Amino acid sequence: MKRPKEAQRRDKAYDCWLAYRPLEDSMAREYRSICARAVVLGQSPVMDSAIEELERGIRGILDIEPEISRIDIGIRALILGMDSDDISIPGKDIETLNPEGFIIKGLRDGILIAGKTDRGVLYGTFEFLRRMQMGLSIDSLHFAENPAAGIRMVNHWDNMNGSIERGYAGNSIFFRDNRFISDKSRIRDYARLLASLGINGVTINNVNVHEHETRLITKELLPEVAALADVFRDYGIRLYLSINYSSPMELDGLDTADPLDEAVQDWWCQKAAEIYSYVPDLGGFLVKADSEFRPGPFTYRRNHAEGANMLAKALEPFGGIVIWRCFVYNCLQDWRDRETDRANAAYDNFMPLDGKFMDNVVLQIKNGPMDFQVREPVSPLFGGLKETCQILELQITQEYTGQQKHVCFLVPQWKEVLDFETWCEGPGSTVKSLVCGSVYPQKHCGFAGVSNIGDNANWTGHILAQANLYGYGRLAWNPGLSSEEIADEWVRLTFSNDPDVVETIGEILLKSWETYELYTSPLGIGWMVNPNHHYGPSVDGYEYSPWGTYHRADWLGIGVDRTVAGGTGFAGRYHKPNAEMYEDMDKCPEELLLFFHRVEYRHRLKSGKTLIQHIYDTHFEGVERVEEFRRKWLSLEGKIDKERFDAVIDKLDIQIRDAKEWRDVVNSYFFRKSGIPDEKGRKIY
Ligand code: GCU
Repeated sequence: MKRPKEAQRRDKAYDCWLAYRPLEDSMAREYRSICARAVVLGQSPVMDSAIEELERGIRGILDIEPEISRIDIGIRALILGMDSDDISIPGKDIETLNPEGFIIKGLRDGILIAGKTDRGVLYGTFEFLRRMQMGLSIDSLHFAENPAAGIRMVNHWDNMNGSIERGYAGNSIFFRDNRFISDKSRIRDYARLLASLGINGVTINNVNVHEHETRLITKELLPEVAALADVFRDYGIRLYLSINYSSPMELDGLDTADPLDEAVQDWWCQKAAEIYSYVPDLGGFLVKADSEFRPGPFTYRRNHAEGANMLAKALEPFGGIVIWRCFVYNCLQDWRDRETDRANAAYDNFMPLDGKFMDNVVLQIKNGPMDFQVREPVSPLFGGLKETCQILELQITQEYTGQQKHVCFLVPQWKEVLDFETWCEGPGSTVKSLVCGSVYPQKHCGFAGVSNIGDNANWTGHILAQANLYGYGRLAWNPGLSSEEIADEWVRLTFSNDPDVVETIGEILLKSWETYELYTSPLGIGWMVNPNHHYGPSVDGYEYSPWGTYHRADWLGIGVDRTVAGGTGFAGRYHKPNAEMYEDMDKCPEELLLFFHRVEYRHRLKSGKTLIQHIYDTHFEGVERVEEFRRKWLSLEGKIDKERFDAVIDKLDIQIRDAKEWRDVVNSYFFRKSGIPDEKGRKIY
């Protein structure tokens, strides 16, 4: 297949972790002796992508032009092999692979990168290049890897007018002015970035499906959808569409979208046949229903299982799946109502339906019960649902975590979620093992991440935010990786193997989430942001709103009582011993104290400090830490290219300014509410 030219913009920021910089000579020599020649066994568009990447990587890292041959002539070489009827890969390790896994190992005559499918070979090729770029010794190359879960997808909240809901890095790379962007070169580069992490699914449009996007499933736009699917297919990535539940009404004038109505069911069956005639391998639909004013089955007094299964039946003959979001709650709450608790909503809506979904319906569950706050407990649906396919939804885009103006490396947050012990089947029932299907084996499991990319030259606005996309993909492939390993890899691939660079940037990344938390909302209470755009402090921004997001601060204390004993009962939705831990103020992990309990300002925390003093101290400390990040970054001058060096300094300056705003607004608010002065006499307004 003829491939379009590479994108013109080839600066370092654009290349992200696939920059392929020359390796130090002593190391390069060893690799060169093998990589001068590559033998490719097997043929397909995905294999072509693997070869192209291999050539690009070898050229960049080793500064040689590899000779590619299709027959094994038994000379020292790199062998890329897809196991098939006519090609058999030596050794037993291939048998341990699933269809997306790969092996990399040394042979007498070189190195073998092999998979049972072309996707396995592609992932193996990226892994080989990653290790080579990191300067790992050739002798260390002997391993087999399988992805931990089958669904590893990215959700775009892109609108066809080119805007991105909660996007902080420019406009859509797919759409502009209600049309598809015809030049696909950048999309191809994006597909490479995703494939390098093992991402195998992408939803191209916003879960809030507006008028134009509703038409993505019509004859008028399906050829364009198909053209986009072609680009992603070459990298082993399947395309998904977010759909409007009311499509039969909006597109064809039916008078209902009731899932139990036969005409509606037929409409979707025919629609599915039409869609698959354009995109035979479409992954399926992503659906936000009955949530934040989106239509759904509730209108017809049907439940979510009835709603989802109707679509699932239509997609079943084509192998498609329905990804149904659990982000369902009452967004018209009266703030005076203290009984309704948004935290309970997803659990209460979906737990009664466990086991009632078809096996091509996958519930997509946000990590926490609220909405991607800097700190939340884990959604109790994990460990609650036992008979339903489920995936974990993480937000890579930094909506509530600094909007890609602040450095906030989210991998440590995600690791806490993944390692959370739900106790649903005793010890070992972590979120990680649940979403990888090892506790309750289901047909589908895995991960969805809300994308943080846009058409900015560096993709993510803040260069250090590239690490979040990288980290998401790496964790979706292997949730066992540590935050430290991921940060280390990312810095080496993106910047350099220089120990100062690796250590300094690694440290900034690893401390950044905690730092962001220090100067924003305290101890798990969340929100306190400006309404709508969600950037910057406004402690009461959502306090008297209908969104179910309250902190309930008064002159004596703050926090929401979510206990069973006297509160909203949310703590009781967990299995023991978690339920008991959250119920009891003394056992509740302190970082979530205000999420579960109402606490007086004079209450003493484990540190011996009062709550109010803790709030003051952490807010001062948060700002100091960001200033320290800036000093650390300055120490790297000359060690990284000026363009990226300056770009990060600019962002850190914004972060310092805005962290001070957070500090002063939050501290002043609580000082004025409580009347309790700072023990250290610092300036509070
Ligand atoms: C958040 C976000 C919305 C988004 C919603 C969702 O509330 O602010 O923009 O639509 O999540 O996940 O559906």
